[in-house]
Amino acid sequence: MQKRSNFSNKLGFVLAASGSAVGLGNIWRFPYLAAQYGGGTFLLIYLILAVTFGFSLMIAEIALGRKTGLSAISAFKSLDKRFGFLGVLAAAVPIIIFPYYCVIGGWVIKYFSVFITGGVKAAAEDTYFTGFISGTFEPLGWFFLFIALTALVVVCGVEQGIEKVSKFMMPILVILTIIIAVYGLTLNGAMEGLVYYIKPHMSDVSAKTILAAMGQLFYSMSLAMGIMVTYGSYMKKENNLESSVRQIEIFDTGIAFLAGMMIIPAVFAFSGGDRTALSAGPGLMFITLPKVFASMKLGVFIGVIFFVLVFFAALTSAISLMETIVSFFMDKLHWGRKKSALFVFILALIMGVPSSLGFGPLGFISWMGMSVLDIMDFVSNSVLMPIVAFFTCIFVGFIIKPSVIADEVKATDGRFRAESLFTVMIKWVAPFFLIAILASSIASALGIFKI
Ligand code: TRP
Repeated sequence: MQKRSNFSNKLGFVLAASGSAVGLGNIWRFPYLAAQYGGGTFLLIYLILAVTFGFSLMIAEIALGRKTGLSAISAFKSLDKRFGFLGVLAAAVPIIIFPYYCVIGGWVIKYFSVFITGGVKAAAEDTYFTGFISGTFEPLGWFFLFIALTALVVVCGVEQGIEKVSKFMMPILVILTIIIAVYGLTLNGAMEGLVYYIKPHMSDVSAKTILAAMGQLFYSMSLAMGIMVTYGSYMKKENNLESSVRQIEIFDTGIAFLAGMMIIPAVFAFSGGDRTALSAGPGLMFITLPKVFASMKLGVFIGVIFFVLVFFAALTSAISLMETIVSFFMDKLHWGRKKSALFVFILALIMGVPSSLGFGPLGFISWMGMSVLDIMDFVSNSVLMPIVAFFTCIFVGFIIKPSVIADEVKATDGRFRAESLFTVMIKWVAPFFLIAILASSIASALGIFKI
């Protein structure tokens, strides 16, 4: 067997895993979900889930990868033949996510181009964003551009270069986000928005909120799709697994929290506290931020830099999403790299078109009030990921047993501080919780009852 290459040290590992985790999920998806699902309530549920559930699942995935030295497709199978299907199921998730991820990536490039060509005033208009996404060829064009750039990097194998650039850009993105958030808070009415974002209201807690928070947790931390198993397979035994997981979580959640700070109070300020503005959904970032930039002194300049940084965050995540799918075909079907990449490119191109057109020409396609893009998002995040997570818990909890994972965690210094939390979560809490949540989401999807 070929020797697997390794991350040279713990920081390298944490940064690489965070690079996969931090992307549009943090900056675009988290704020609009938090705004939609009751602000502080969503935030609180998300945090609780992150430190219990997300923590346990990430430990399990990384440990599985490090123990077996294999990627998800083969890791489950190598430990128990009956669980080969889980690797395949996990691999299906990125295939659904990748195409629509590129549609949003296209929106980011579009906004960059608008800002750099001086269209800030126009972009700050209420109807600008809807006007743009309801078009036919324009959004498609930007989507093609984004996916072509991603494919180009994957085919030419220049990820290393992109990774280097984005590692340098990530801290700038954080600083810029803080500056924009602080500025946003000085706007009239923003404080009310801050309260909404931070203060939980128990009356907002519902199965739907919990499901949304859980889906976001998986999405944002790249869990329940085999990614972290692969990353774990590159991790050395002498790097502490438990503290690495803590650091990745803090990093990822911190950036999502800041993105919410940047967007939600500003929505309040610009909508005069009108609650309907909060449920804008996927367009929230593109509707609010241009208004913030238009009202800032150096707004054009800051807007341009901001969208470049978001573009890089999105590009690195898109590259690693595409890599995952490409390597899936290479492993399973023994295709060469170029052939797999071309296939994935064409497949994603075809799959992404309906998501892009779903706000315009294909607007008539709707299910539970969701557009095509939202449906893709729902199927991957609210249906497939909970299923993968459920079977991963069963696999770890009852087939290979939690102690196997615990031993892997202890391989570094003999300690696993949160071992009892981990065991109870994986065996008892998480599976029941996942089934309940999944049942309610499927029931509501089938219209059996409304949640
Ligand atoms: N976690 C990424 C984000 O927050 C999105 C993502 C989901 C991802 N699955 C992935 C990134 C797989 C890389 C690989 O935007």
